Amino acid sequence: MADATTPAPVDDRPYSPGLEGVIAGETTIALVDGNNGRLIYRGYPIGELVRNGTYAQVAELLWTGEWVAQAHLACAPLSDRVIASLRNLPASSHPMDALRTAISTWGAETSPPWPATVEQARAITALAPSALAAFARIRQGLDPIAPDPSLGLAAGFLYQLNGSRADEGRARALDAYFMVGAEHGFNASTFTARVITATRSDIASAVCGAIGALKGPLHGGAPSEVVSQLHEIGTPENAAAWIDDALARGERLMGFGHRVYRAYDPRAAALREVAEGMGNIAEWLRLAVAVEDIALQKLAEKSPDRPLKTNVEYYTAAVLQGVGLPPDLFPSTFALARMAGWTAHVIEQVAANRLIRPDVRYIGPSERHLPGAV
Ligand code: COA
Repeated sequence: MADATTPAPVDDRPYSPGLEGVIAGETTIALVDGNNGRLIYRGYPIGELVRNGTYAQVAELLWTGEWVAQAHLACAPLSDRVIASLRNLPASSHPMDALRTAISTWGAETSPPWPATVEQARAITALAPSALAAFARIRQGLDPIAPDPSLGLAAGFLYQLNGSRADEGRARALDAYFMVGAEHGFNASTFTARVITATRSDIASAVCGAIGALKGPLHGGAPSEVVSQLHEIGTPENAAAWIDDALARGERLMGFGHRVYRAYDPRAAALREVAEGMGNIAEWLRLAVAVEDIALQKLAEKSPDRPLKTNVEYYTAAVLQGVGLPPDLFPSTFALARMAGWTAHVIEQVAANRLIRPDVRYIGPSERHLPGAV
């Protein structure tokens, strides 16, 4: 039997802070190939999907593994209770909190049973844009707008947000952004969704947890900071001096570098193509491209051994601005896109479920006793 001075047993099992490099699952949904700059959904490269597909087709592909040419996914109407829950929030609420509240209310009123199904995934993915658009209107004192079932998710979201149909170019650009943001392996929010699902909890709880994880600035990213950076730089002529100063102060250039990608982020490449097709941001794009060239050159000089390339946020900023979204909706719009990936992982988790329960190394005090304890 251990006496009062027995230390904790030596635990020399390998430990990786942040689980970096740890394989915590197997998936057939997507390959994130950081060294070669490839992102592949069910075998198909992201650039090819964005050029030829729609978000509805990509979502079906992620959920089922099948390419459904006729796939159509419209925004779902909100129940009175979901609308009431959004009206109850302060207008100053973070839109991510509003989205999480709407999904939580939907979960409470529909009680989606475990195991999660593709039907449930479709329902939650179709609900999310309506909820975010409703909150964006309610906080301005406007009434929510009922969805138009003939529109796809991106066009339907813009319609419910603005009260009028977006032009084809903007709707298509947002649809492309949704495809690019739909899935990205075992990132923090997707892993959260899988951990929750593995306890046999429901899909609404898994998505609420995922939204919570995505809300953190280290994950949800900051394309709005790319916008401020380009505003500060102002003209291509200012770029070199501005970047030199920023790097000399030890600052990071927004929209560059990535934990996984050592090559050019394939999502940035896909979104750059989309941005190039948007006439209303031509001036902005000229500046963005000129600054990017100089930034890549300066980052290569600064860190010759660690490739720092353009990441997805750089051209996300351009596309979402061109679509006309307010910057404070950028992170929650990312959540709308990621809904397909989160729910695809929920479905994959239930198909071969095992409770996710890693171990922790104890580094606290040895066993001790309260004064006078018997
Ligand atoms: N600008 C300048 N230097 C950068 C940089 C950037 N955008 N990103 C990384 N670095 C440098 C770091 O300063 C560090 O240099 P050091 O070793 O001399 O200290 C080195 O590269 C490694 O940085 P580290 O924080 O370990 O890299 P990471 O893989 O953990 O970071 C990001 C990934 C995305 C957090 C990081 O690249 C970053 O902060 N980028 C800017 C913000 C951004 O665009 N976020 C959106 C990501 S999708």
